[in-house]
Amino acid sequence: METNQKKSVNFLRGVPAQEALEKVMPAVLKGYETAVLKYGTDVLQYGHFTGFKPLRDIIGSLHGVDSNRVVAGNGGLEVISLFFKSLPKQSLILVEETSYDRVLIDAMRYGHRLAGVPLTPDGVDVDRFAKIVNTMKPNAFYGIPFHQNPTGITYTKDNRKTVERICRENNMFCIWDICYQILRYDGKANDSVEISDWGPVIASSFTKTITPGTKCGYIIVPQSYVNHFTQVIANTRINPNLPTQGFIADFIQSGQYDQYLNYLTGLYRPRMDALNHALKTHFPGAFPCDIAGGFFAVLAFPNILKENETAFIESSKNNGVSVASAWDAVAPDFLDDMQKKGLFIRLTFPALDPESIEWGILKLKETAEVFKL
Ligand SMILES: Cc1ncc(COP(=O)(O)O)c(C=O)c1O
Repeated sequence: METNQKKSVNFLRGVPAQEALEKVMPAVLKGYETAVLKYGTDVLQYGHFTGFKPLRDIIGSLHGVDSNRVVAGNGGLEVISLFFKSLPKQSLILVEETSYDRVLIDAMRYGHRLAGVPLTPDGVDVDRFAKIVNTMKPNAFYGIPFHQNPTGITYTKDNRKTVERICRENNMFCIWDICYQILRYDGKANDSVEISDWGPVIASSFTKTITPGTKCGYIIVPQSYVNHFTQVIANTRINPNLPTQGFIADFIQSGQYDQYLNYLTGLYRPRMDALNHALKTHFPGAFPCDIAGGFFAVLAFPNILKENETAFIESSKNNGVSVASAWDAVAPDFLDDMQKKGLFIRLTFPALDPESIEWGILKLKETAEVFKL
């Protein structure tokens, strides 16, 4: 927040806190130096398209799978995109009614078709999920089970397991994007996702847990899919950024990663508390529930209809709060209905201090009040 000028808060950018990046900077600096000294020209020369072996080995053992199923790439989005690219053309992909916008857009750009499934505070609506699977026979489901982007909900274990069972029984991929799994700030830990030979496919990223600029993510695919998938990667790019992967391998192995995660959860907890408090105070009863981690929450404004959307966003900006509609995050077949229910925005909180969050939510409430008249 700028204090000596007009106050302002930007709820748009889902980025790590600036102070977190400054905190990790010395370790990153040293880490790259160590990686080049330790691995030498191996991290400077062309390498294997599945990523840096020492990092894949670490990821494989963390998830209890053979490292030949692990592909380490330049971020979560890249490996998910490669996976979509590997699917048959015009595949039908089931997605949550609201999801990570870039993933939806990327899937459609490959020519895949999307169908949405409703979300509840416990995960997807499993009855609807089963019905859609039976009638539409999708090739894959993509979901974000922990601190979902954008709603912030976390699936219950039962819900997640039911989804996995339906996918397995129907011979479709279940792709879990678990990039927020370890980013839980309420003192509890999320379950881990067990991986068998069939799947589920797991995608994750070190963007939010180390830094976005170093850009590293990974995906774990079924054993039977390794050959086809790696061929698609080999035809797309050669190796990913190897010094980054060398640095991250050592960062994890030395225990610094866990220490940094502890710091991050401590930093983000009061921000999350401020968000929950402000939402409860100013927007009581708004879906979904308490935010327990991750980067996002959503807010719906039933009184701001399509024709008032631009005016509301403009007015909110004039009051110092930057927000935008989150329509890109909505599954295409849910869009019409959702738009009829009023404006829907995504809020992000980790990069904002608690006071700014409280102030920003209050301003949003005040702006919305004016539009009620
Ligand atoms: C659910 C989800 N998946 C993937 C990513 C992207 O990760 P990366 O920056 O590693 O590509 C994000 C970033 O916001 C995300 O929210």
